[in-house]
Formats: sequence, C-alpha cells, structure tokens
Amino acid sequence: MDRLSTAALSGVPETLLIPLAARLLASERNPDLGFIDPAARVVGERLAFDPARFADDRGSMRGSIVRALWFDSVVRRFLAAHPDALCVSIGSGLDTRTDRVTPPPGVDWYDIEFPDVVALRQALIPARPNVHAIAADGANVLAWVDVVPWHRERPMLVLAEGVCMYLKPEAGAAWLRALDYLAGVRATPLTLAFDFASPFMVRNSRRNPSVRKTQAQFSWGLRRIDDAVRIAPGFRVAERYDVARRSGVLSRTVSMAHRLITGGRPLYGCATLTHAGHAAG
Ligand SMILES: C[S@@+](CC[C@H](N)C(=O)[O-])C[C@H]1O[C@@H](n2cnc3c(N)ncnc32)[C@H](O)[C@@H]1O
Repeated sequence: MDRLSTAALSGVPETLLIPLAARLLASERNPDLGFIDPAARVVGERLAFDPARFADDRGSMRGSIVRALWFDSVVRRFLAAHPDALCVSIGSGLDTRTDRVTPPPGVDWYDIEFPDVVALRQALIPARPNVHAIAADGANVLAWVDVVPWHRERPMLVLAEGVCMYLKPEAGAAWLRALDYLAGVRATPLTLAFDFASPFMVRNSRRNPSVRKTQAQFSWGLRRIDDAVRIAPGFRVAERYDVARRSGVLSRTVSMAHRLITGGRPLYGCATLTHAGHAAG
C-alpha cells in the first residue's frame, strides 16, 4: 500500500481514523476539554486526512477526547509512580500518546498493532527513544510477551483504548486470562486500563454513526467491569470512569436511560484493573 495513505485500511484497523479525527477536531469542536496534541496535527497533515468524514458524529468526537484524556491521566500517574516501568499499548492506531505524556527515560514503551498500522505509524510518527512498535495481534499475549522486556517484578502498564469491543468475546477472555496468569507467575504489579462497551452498544454498533462508516463492528461487550474480574480473578477493579456520561447531551441521556433500565450498568466506560503480582487465592 501507499505508505502514507489510509486507503488500504479496512475493517478494524480503519477505525483508528475515528479517534484521529477527534484529535484533529478537538481544539475547534471541544475546546473546553483542553486537549492539546500538536503531534496529531502533523500526522493528519502528512496523511492528508480530512476529519470531516466523522465530524458530524459529535458524541464520538467528544467521547474519543474524553477517553484519551482519561488514558493520559492513568499513564501519567502510573509512570510517575513507576518511572522504570514497562508500558504496552495494544491497538495504538495512530495515537501520539508518548508525545503527550513524555515517558521518563527509564520507561520502555511498546505499541502493538496490526502490520499495516505499524507501517503507517513508522512512516508518520517520528521515532522516540525507548518507544517501539510490534506488529502482532495484541490480544494474543503469547505473540508478544517474549519480545518485550517484561522481567520478573517489573511494574507494567497495559493499555487498550478503543480495542476491546472489536475483539471476539473468546479472544477478549483469553487475553484477560493470559495477563492474569503471567502477572502471577512473573510477580508483576500490573495495571490494565481499557474501555468497554455494554452488550447494548455491541448489538447496536452498526447504528454508531462513525463505526458504520467503516467495515468494522463491535463484538465483545461487558455488562459491568466486575465481569472482567470474574474472567480473570487475579485482578481487582481500581478505577471506573463513565465515558458516555461525559460525551455530550445525547450520549448522557442514553447513558442515563441505560443505567435506569439495567439497574445501574454503564453504557460505555473505562476501568483500570490492578494485579498484585501473585496468584489469586
Ligand atoms: C478505534 S481504534 C483506536 C486506536 C487508538 N487506540 C486511538 O485511541 O487512537 C482501534 C485500533 O485497535 C487496533 N486493534 C484492534 N484489535 C487489535 C488487536 N487484536 N491487536 C492489535 N491491534 C488491534 C486496530 O488496528 C485499530 O488501530
């Protein structure tokens, strides 16, 4: 494919254009959120990408920035506490998080993406010291675990932003179980940050104004974050964050109705799970 074109992106990788559009439109559409990302602007210009394709979807444009700011905050807090950590970002798309958060020099950062996306990242985003890309299925932990410097007891942060809803449910569950198992046997204090869709959102993914412009659709939903802990009992829920509630009037209204009807379940949220680094019991 043309190294600097999005034309060959299809299916799930194409969805990286949605948060990229949100980042490019953030200062104009959602200035109150205070999101600043000059590196994203450079990516957009080099790609000659017109965010107008997704601009009408105000909920996703705002929600993507609300979500990005929450992930940035998780990363900053974790790296401040663990300046020698390993950070693995699964499904980074064309995100420029390392430019926003500037990891300390002791941090090793790995972006794991499908091969076409890695090629685009390498062509578009200037290299930074200690920031690497791996072309792999990030949900298949065995595909990357021995490529990253995950040493016994080294604190680790795993990010998956805008990714889990595209995984098959069995792949999502296997991913959680593998991280749980490996954190236990490697005695790793591990924090996992991800966003998750409700089953309602999954059922209605073709109605999402941005997702339906791609060939992708959602597959995996969680009724509540505790369901992830049931799958991988070595984790504990450390933080919950309701994205839909903060993503504009329509999202907030649907989110409130969803909570009322389901007895308090989030429509769309983020969470951090922590693993103490020993087997549950
Ligand atoms: C909605 S985009 C989010 C991109 C980025 N995290 C952001 O917020 O800008 C979803 C991304 O996840 C990637 N992805 C989905 N499943 C993946 C997997 N199993 N392994 C690696 N990347 C994956 C896709 O290629 C796509 O770039």
